[in-house]
Amino acid sequence: MAVKTYLNQDLINRYDRTGPRYTSYPTALQFSTAIGSHDYTDWVAQSNDDPIPGSLSLYFHIPFCNTICYYCGCSKIVTKDKSKTSSYVRLLQREIALQGSLFDRDRKVTQMHWGGGTPTFLQDQEIEQILNTTAKHFTMSESEGEYSIEVDPRTVTPARLMLLRSFGFNRISFGVQDFDHDVQQAVNRVQDKQLVLANIKAAKDHDFHSINIDLMYGLPKQTTKSFADTLEQIITADPDRIAVYNYAHMPELFKPQRRIEADDLPDPMIKLELLQLAIDRLQQAGYVYIGMDHFAKASDDLVKAQNNGTLQRNFQGYSTHADCDIVAMGITAISQIGDNYSQNVKSLEDYESALLLEQIPIYRGIELESDDILRREIINELMCNFRLDIKHIEEKWRINFSRYFDASMIHLSKMMHDGLLQMTPELIEITPEGRLLVRSICMEFDRYLQERQQEEQYSRVI
Ligand SMILES: C[S@@+](CC[C@H](N)C(=O)[O-])C[C@H]1O[C@@H](n2cnc3c(N)ncnc32)[C@H](O)[C@@H]1O
Ligand code: SF4
Repeated sequence: MAVKTYLNQDLINRYDRTGPRYTSYPTALQFSTAIGSHDYTDWVAQSNDDPIPGSLSLYFHIPFCNTICYYCGCSKIVTKDKSKTSSYVRLLQREIALQGSLFDRDRKVTQMHWGGGTPTFLQDQEIEQILNTTAKHFTMSESEGEYSIEVDPRTVTPARLMLLRSFGFNRISFGVQDFDHDVQQAVNRVQDKQLVLANIKAAKDHDFHSINIDLMYGLPKQTTKSFADTLEQIITADPDRIAVYNYAHMPELFKPQRRIEADDLPDPMIKLELLQLAIDRLQQAGYVYIGMDHFAKASDDLVKAQNNGTLQRNFQGYSTHADCDIVAMGITAISQIGDNYSQNVKSLEDYESALLLEQIPIYRGIELESDDILRREIINELMCNFRLDIKHIEEKWRINFSRYFDASMIHLSKMMHDGLLQMTPELIEITPEGRLLVRSICMEFDRYLQERQQEEQYSRVI
């Protein structure tokens, strides 16, 4: 099946570099171990003292999975041993109590997300215990908040989904990736299509307000034909959101990816065809292309947020609720308090040691300078709205844009010449071709990338 892509081979050759996905700016590579729990408690105290303190978005990281998917770049612990979770759940409850004690009780939780790993690796009663502890130590919003959970379809049944709904989860995300059997085998994630479709249907029947499906392109053995089939079946299942992630192949960093045969991976041109296929087909089916890797129905909150300019990038990808502090709990979880970021320790041992000492288990972070905040605003605008109001930036930040970003102007002009963007002294607008390379455009505003060569630590943009 031939798919026309907006980018030609020459552009692919020139722009297929590695770069961040900008779920934060500065990225986690910039975090410093000089930041610790004392800094965090200071940040929270300051944010409590804001004239109008923001509401809270909670994130829980549940790292466990039953089996390994070879492509996986998430922070996870693969085990068959269900008893491993009980000590983690106890520690997580300690962290919830500790974190809860820092925030003023009038700051309401309006958003909660459970990610992993696989949160549904936990037993039902463990999920319930964590929710009860959360409700005890934080003030949950009286009106229904946005409570979402990531689910591996192989770990749930329609009955279990009903239980999750009764616990208060009202949004759900299923990892599907690809329905093709050869692809599934090549990545060690064989999952029955009928089971997946039955679970999506059950989530609809149980009135989950927003159902997301994760797909991936660039997986081994994937072809435009096989991916087109997967897309058709997902469109028929009619989810509210679809994420189509670009497979980040970094075998030096993620050991299980070494079990993927390099020869089975589609080349950059085919990868772009797969993305273009998803963009064209999903748009025809009525989905709005939010950006990067996300699509949503026009009625979905993400599209509404994009339309009214409140969409933001965070560690879960695109998100609404730009005004919240993000309180992230569990190993490796990343919090955002005011303008600052912190990350929890990576190992279970370090997590336990910190919590036994009643310390927030932070091991690194970053306090943003005003230059970081300016660049973050620009990158967020480009990622979320594909345009930048230069005049607004100049007035708000009292800068001369072309002088401040002097070093980037030549590259931006080159990108304009390549048809990736249009630029006037007032405005940058990214073209449909440029949307496929929005990471490369944002990289022009990344001071740290320009100061040091860190590109080998990121995945390829195509
Ligand atoms: C934590 S998992 C989702 C929940 C559950 N563990 C599952 O797999 O169904 C998050 C998602 O990240 C995506 N993902 C994982 N590894 C990736 C990689 N190397 N490149 C791009 N996306 C990846 C997959 O689409 C996956 O569904
Ligand atoms: S993709 Fe999901 S289930 Fe597979 S290893 Fe990663 S986190 Fe676990």
